[in-house]
Order: sequence, then C-alpha cells, then structure tokens
Amino acid sequence: MARRKKIYEGKAKILYEGPEPGTIVQYFKDDATAFNAEKKDVIEGKGVLNNLLSEFFMNGLNQIGVPTHFIRRINMREQLVRNCEIIPLEIIVRNYAAGSLSKRLGIEEGTQLPRPIVEYCYKDDALGDPLVSEEHIAAFGWASQQDMDDVLSLALRVNDFLSGVMLAVGIRLVDFKIEIGRIYEGDFMRLIVADEISPDSCRLWDIETGQKLDKDVFRRDLGSLTDAYSEVARRLGVMPKTSQVTKPTLIN
Ligand SMILES: Nc1ncnc2c1ncn2[C@@H]1O[C@H](COP(=O)(O)OP(=O)(O)OP(=O)(O)O)[C@@H](O)[C@H]1O
Ligand SMILES: [Mg+2]
Repeated sequence: MARRKKIYEGKAKILYEGPEPGTIVQYFKDDATAFNAEKKDVIEGKGVLNNLLSEFFMNGLNQIGVPTHFIRRINMREQLVRNCEIIPLEIIVRNYAAGSLSKRLGIEEGTQLPRPIVEYCYKDDALGDPLVSEEHIAAFGWASQQDMDDVLSLALRVNDFLSGVMLAVGIRLVDFKIEIGRIYEGDFMRLIVADEISPDSCRLWDIETGQKLDKDVFRRDLGSLTDAYSEVARRLGVMPKTSQVTKPTLIN
C-alpha cells in the first residue's frame, strides 16, 4: 500500500492527506503535553480514547445542526475530517472558574460564573498562545467581524450541547477549548468546528465528588489519565475494548 503524505505533526495528532480532495486524516497519538509542551509523557491508550470521544461529540454536534469537520472514524486511532483553513485562535468557553482564569482574576476554582465567558487566545506556541481581544483579532485580520459573530454563536451552541451531554452522565463541563475553520463551497464560505473535542481540551469534573476527569489529571499529577478518560468514555457509552486501548493499530 502506498505511503500516505504527512501534512503536519502536532503535539497530540498527525494529519495525513485524505483519500478524497478536501479531506484529511487525523491520527490521534498517545503523547500528552502540558504547559506549552514543558511537561511531556506518553499515555498508552489516550489517542484511542480521544479519537472515540471526539467522534462522539462531533457526531452529536453534526446531528443538532452545528457543522463540524468530522466525516467518519476510520479505525481506533484515525478519523476522516474535512480539511479547513483554521482561524488562528483557541476559542475558550468557561462556565466555572478554573485554570488561567482563576489565576489571572483571583477567582477560586469551581466558582460558577454569572454567564458563560468566551475568551480568545492567539494560536502561537512560541508566544505561549496569548490571550487576545476582538480588537487584536480585527486589527491583525485574523478573522472578520462577521466571522467573530459566527464564532461566538458556534462556541455557545457547542457549550450548550456539551454541558447537557455531560450533565446527563453526572459530569460538570467547567470549560473547554475549540478551534474553528473556514471551508469554501463554491462562492460561499462557512465556519465549522474543527480539531478535537476530548478530555484533552475540556475541564470535566464529577458532579458528586468533584473528581477531575480531564487533562488536569496529567498537568497536576493527580493519578492515571487513562483511568480518567476511560471513565468519561464509559459513562458516555463509547468505551473501546481493553485490547483496543492498549494496542495501537498499525498504520500504513
Ligand atoms: N479540519 C482541519 N483542517 C485543517 N487543520 C486542522 C483541522 N483540524 C485540526 N487542524 C489542525 O491540526 C493540528 C492538530 O494537531 P495537534 O492538535 O497535535 O496540534 P498542536 O500540537 O496542538 O499544535 P497547534 O498549536 O498547531 O494546535 C492543529 O494545528 C489544528 O489546528
Ligand atoms: Mg492541538
């Protein structure tokens, strides 16, 4: 079988050219990084869990009419997605204070926010993905005002969907990050949710116990990351067979 063309290798995923024009294959690695890759490890099975969980969330979004890049899962580690032009922003939605917001504003972690707060960070690893305002985004031309109106409404719809799905399985959606990209269809351009939605990109706390079920387990050395992600997958009914978590599938 012919070797596929690698387009990009990031910290958590590898992108390959897809089988049809306008598509790419996302391969989910087991690598975990935090604090802008200052902390690194390989967590066996993480890629499989994130692939399945991202499929689950993106599929649900597609079904309620929130457009995403997700087309179909190919195997335990890979999914076929629509290639898009990523807006260079991390779009963060917060329902409860945690992480950098707590630090920056001195609000105790876990405090419920008066309403969802949407923040934007400029995607640039060398700069540590700095927080930016809509003024920066407009002035530097990263996105238009129309784009930003659409970005905000997509982000809030994703928040409502994910909050509800998680609440149904006893998990609080504290915050999450998404990436959004542009696709062109004839003369039209539209925005779709891209990248991944997984416990790597969300803060998820058990409603009863407050136990963390997300990447903070790795960031703060709170135990087994695979156990935490498996618990999320188990509650959502997308748990892979054990052998599939531990054994990476062979790719060509
Ligand atoms: N549908 C898509 N089309 C094109 N690019 C995408 C799509 N979905 C995600 N990407 C990009 O693919 C890459 C995924 O790799 P990964 O998440 O490992 O990157 P990363 O190390 O976090 O780096 P980055 O800072 O670029 O996000 C990201 O750069 C992301 O923006
Ligand atoms: Mg990434």
